[in-house]
Amino acid sequence: MSQAGGVDALPTAPRPDPSVAHNARVWNYWLGGKDNFESDRAVGDRIRSMFPVIGEVARADRRFLARVVRHLAGDLGVRQFLDIGTGLPTADNTHQLAQAVDPRSRVVYVDNDPMVLVHARALLTSSPEGATDYLDADVHRPEEILAGAARTLDLDQPVAVMMLGILNFVQDTEVAVAIVRRLLDAMPSGSYLALTHPTVELGGEANVAAMAFWNAHASPPIRARTGAEIGRFFTGLELVEPGLVSCARWRPDDADEATVPQYGGLARKP
Ligand SMILES: C[S@@+](CC[C@H](N)C(=O)[O-])C[C@H]1O[C@@H](n2cnc3c(N)ncnc32)[C@H](O)[C@@H]1O
Repeated sequence: MSQAGGVDALPTAPRPDPSVAHNARVWNYWLGGKDNFESDRAVGDRIRSMFPVIGEVARADRRFLARVVRHLAGDLGVRQFLDIGTGLPTADNTHQLAQAVDPRSRVVYVDNDPMVLVHARALLTSSPEGATDYLDADVHRPEEILAGAARTLDLDQPVAVMMLGILNFVQDTEVAVAIVRRLLDAMPSGSYLALTHPTVELGGEANVAAMAFWNAHASPPIRARTGAEIGRFFTGLELVEPGLVSCARWRPDDADEATVPQYGGLARKP
C-alpha cells in the first residue's frame, strides 16, 4: 500500500453501498465535492435543513486541519503524521500540507469506508523524498493501526496523531479514551494529538435533532460530546495554546472567523 509497494497493492474493498448515506461521502457533499450518491445528498440536505451551519462546520474543520498541520510541520518540526478518519481526498490533504513544508514528511492515512479506499490512490501521491500509505482499518482496532503505521513511520520518532471528526463514531467514551491512550502510549515524547469533535455546546443545540436523524437514516452512528468529555482525550498531554476551543477559533488566519459547534485542539506528549 505504501509508495514503495505501489497503489496496486491496495486491498480490494467491499463495493460502496449507494443506497445508504455514508459519513465520508456526505462529508464530501457538504464540502462541495463530487464523490457522493443521491442517498448522501438527500440525507445531507435534510441535515442541513435541521442544522444549517453543518457546511460551515465541515469547512472550518478542514481549515483547522490545514492550520494544525502547518503549525506541526512548520513551527514544531514534526515530520510524521498518522491521520485516522481521513475522509475522501480533497484540497489540502495532510501529506500535501506537510510535504509543502518538508518533502521528507511521512504520512499514514487510515479510514474504513470503502469509497475512501476506492479513492485512496489520490492520497498516495507522495513527494519522492517522503512517503504516504493508506490503511483500510477501523479506529476501534488501534493495535492493527499501530502495526500498519509502523511499516511507514518510525515510532521511535515524534508522530502527530490526527483524529479529526472520528472519535464521534466511537459511541462509548471509555472506549474512545482507551483508544486514544493506546495510540499515544505507542508514541515517543514530543508526539502530538490533534482532534476535532462535534458538540451540542458552542451554539450546537440543533445537533441533537440532526444527529438523531442521522442515526436513523445513515451510517455509521454518530454522537456529540461536551467540552469536558472531549478534554479527557488530552489527559496526560500538554494542550498547545489556545487549548480546546471551537476549531474555527484555533489560531484562525482570519481574526473574524465565526465560532462553529465543533471543538478542536492540539496537545503535546511530554
Ligand atoms: C467527518 S469525516 C472527517 C474527515 C477528515 N478527518 C476531516 O476532518 O475532514 C470522518 C471520517 O471517519 C471515517 N470513519 C468513521 N468511522 C470509522 C471507523 N470506525 N474507523 C475508521 N474510520 C472511520 C469516515 O469514513 C470518514 O471518512
